[in-house]
Amino acid sequence: GLYKEKFRGQFHFSPKRGWTNDPNGLVYYNGEYHLFFQHNPYGRGWGNMSWGHAVSKDLVHWKELDVALHPGPFGPVFSGGAVVDQENTSGLGKPGKPAMVMFFTGARAWSQYLAWSTDGRSFQKLEKAVVPRINKDNRDPKVVWYEPSKQWVMVVYVERAHEQHSMQFLTSPDLKDWTPVSSINGGAGRDGYLFECPEFFQLTVEGSKETKWILTGANSEYAIGNFDGKVFKPETERLNGQRGRDFYAAQTYSNEPKGRRIEIGWWRTHTDREGMNFNQSMSIPLELKLERRTEGLRLIRRPVKELEALRNKTYSYGKMKLKDNSANPLSSLDIELAEIRLEFEPGTAKEVVLNVRGVPVIYNAVKQELTIDGVTASAPLQKGKQKLIIYADRTGLEVFAGDGLLFMPVNINIKPEIRSLSISARGGTASVSDLKVYQLESIWD
Ligand code: FRU
Repeated sequence: GLYKEKFRGQFHFSPKRGWTNDPNGLVYYNGEYHLFFQHNPYGRGWGNMSWGHAVSKDLVHWKELDVALHPGPFGPVFSGGAVVDQENTSGLGKPGKPAMVMFFTGARAWSQYLAWSTDGRSFQKLEKAVVPRINKDNRDPKVVWYEPSKQWVMVVYVERAHEQHSMQFLTSPDLKDWTPVSSINGGAGRDGYLFECPEFFQLTVEGSKETKWILTGANSEYAIGNFDGKVFKPETERLNGQRGRDFYAAQTYSNEPKGRRIEIGWWRTHTDREGMNFNQSMSIPLELKLERRTEGLRLIRRPVKELEALRNKTYSYGKMKLKDNSANPLSSLDIELAEIRLEFEPGTAKEVVLNVRGVPVIYNAVKQELTIDGVTASAPLQKGKQKLIIYADRTGLEVFAGDGLLFMPVNINIKPEIRSLSISARGGTASVSDLKVYQLESIWD
């Protein structure tokens, strides 16, 4: 039945049927987290691009609603963001009912359009583009409020010349009338640094009062810097936001009620098979923080706290030593959906291996590398104590290491019949200080 399909993520959002790619218009409005998404309602492949729509009260359980934005004279509806116009700068709100304002790319002529809603259920569009095409491909508008100048800021991807990427900044007093103010070079070709789906937001450096702006592209590479309302000045080189497989086009929530910076990405999964009528999924929601680490300021990703509500059974293991040929302490487990939290000192061991339902997660203590299903992250883990958090769903693993410094989403269709876990050490003795395995329940009922 629906939501019970063999490779349907049980705690990851995916549409009932049809294709999805990027998350769009992530915004908290009227007591709900809205998740719009690039959607083909009519097939399992990319096409007929529309904004699908789902809502959640807790970021964990999602209810899919009717398609919010359909293709029109402007062409297919490509990606973009949304804001709540609290002060009714646009005049699109009603007394006591601020408008939710969405920006999308009309892909026929690469122009940016505006849509809005005052109830979170029905949507209207302005007929004319608010930002006509600037140069070649323009897409994926993301809008934020800049308090010091009381202006809206849009960042939109613009292809300057063939495969020459840039992010264009524009400002507006009212969300309708936009003025280009600056542009930043994003590299070239497939290795382009700031290529499509910009995300732009401010964070306070943990433990200080200092704030910084972060600009990212679709592959999660990012720069940290300063913004004066018009020009973004990066202070870092391009940095890696993730080192996994197929996490793309992530976007963060605007108007998050607790002031958190919460991100959801498109998690490209292998769900186009075995008779399933839907394809692709979203990542779990992640909380972003800006922290000062050994290597400098870094963006940190952790699973949102709300996911703890899915724990329905806890298996807790005390301190233990692991060495070659020691018995598997997890041998009695029989589990499908799991959250695993592990802390260990590698000691003299060369490797510590956690096997999650047939998928090896290998920590190499000699090189401080993490390898999952053949994907290796050789940075940026430190020597000594390691903390791992692993979420395992039918479509793969999301792994957090280095206390959120290293995020490795790895998509893999896990064999339903393998429900075992094991942990072992190779080449020496490792000490586990804490190990908890939580059985998770499905978000679909
Ligand atoms: C990224 C992307 C966006 C575009 C959308 C179309 O995955 O290519 O740039 O708006 O997908 O579906």
